[in-house]
Amino acid sequence: MKIAIIGTGNVGGALATKWAKAGHTLYLGVRNLEEFKGKELLKNPNTTALSIQEAVQIAELILISTPAPMAVEVTQSLGDTTGKIIIDAMNIVMGRGPQGYSNTSKAILDHTQTKDVVKCFNSTGFNNMENPNYNQEALDMFVAGDSERAKKAAIQLAKDAGFAECYNVGGNDKFELMEQFAFFWINLAMFQSYGRNIGFKLLKR
Ligand SMILES: NC(=O)c1ccc[n+]([C@@H]2O[C@H](COP(=O)([O-])OP(=O)(O)OC[C@H]3O[C@@H](n4cnc5c(N)ncnc54)[C@H](OP(=O)(O)O)[C@@H]3O)[C@@H](O)[C@H]2O)c1
Repeated sequence: MKIAIIGTGNVGGALATKWAKAGHTLYLGVRNLEEFKGKELLKNPNTTALSIQEAVQIAELILISTPAPMAVEVTQSLGDTTGKIIIDAMNIVMGRGPQGYSNTSKAILDHTQTKDVVKCFNSTGFNNMENPNYNQEALDMFVAGDSERAKKAAIQLAKDAGFAECYNVGGNDKFELMEQFAFFWINLAMFQSYGRNIGFKLLKR
């Protein structure tokens, strides 16, 4: 799959590396081709850097992993997204988000052409995206959004990144729940001092 990464920092960098190694073609969409976070990602296979609009134009799927307060500005900078899938990995943390929105996915939907927007890869630390393995098993991932097509793509990409399963949390009405779930992880990892090397797995019987 042709994937544009908008936001090539901790999260975008971890996923770009996993997906490039899994055989996808990666287009890093950056503001400044000379200087951007994650320049070392160009050493990965099948990876090039382009302007944001060029990367979006060429890609079938777009990962947005920029700071949440920039969600509207970044979405408006994408150009035409008709027919494309957007995966939103952002979280509003402690009120720091786009003005007038309680989750970033709604902000994206309101400022772009495609309706195929899902929230995924937001609910665990970037370190767990770099390495989802704990002893003999891998963590799970979670996805929400109305678009079945976008959810199917996100589920495949979660598996390509090494997560064991990617569970369907529901539709667009679960975007906020997904961000609260992320804050649940942040609370445990940071405020309760369990550290970043913790993650979620669903047990079943
Ligand atoms: N860190 C985590 O463990 C984690 C886990 C799950 C979800 N998240 C969420 O993922 C998002 C990114 O977090 P991160 O830790 O990966 O951030 P980060 O390392 O600081 O990277 C941010 C990236 O966003 C780019 N960027 C900033 N403003 C932009 C704009 N206006 N237009 C285009 N690109 C812009 C930066 O580009 P430049 O290189 O040009 O500065 C940089 O590549 C946040 O919303 C966060 O809540 C983070």
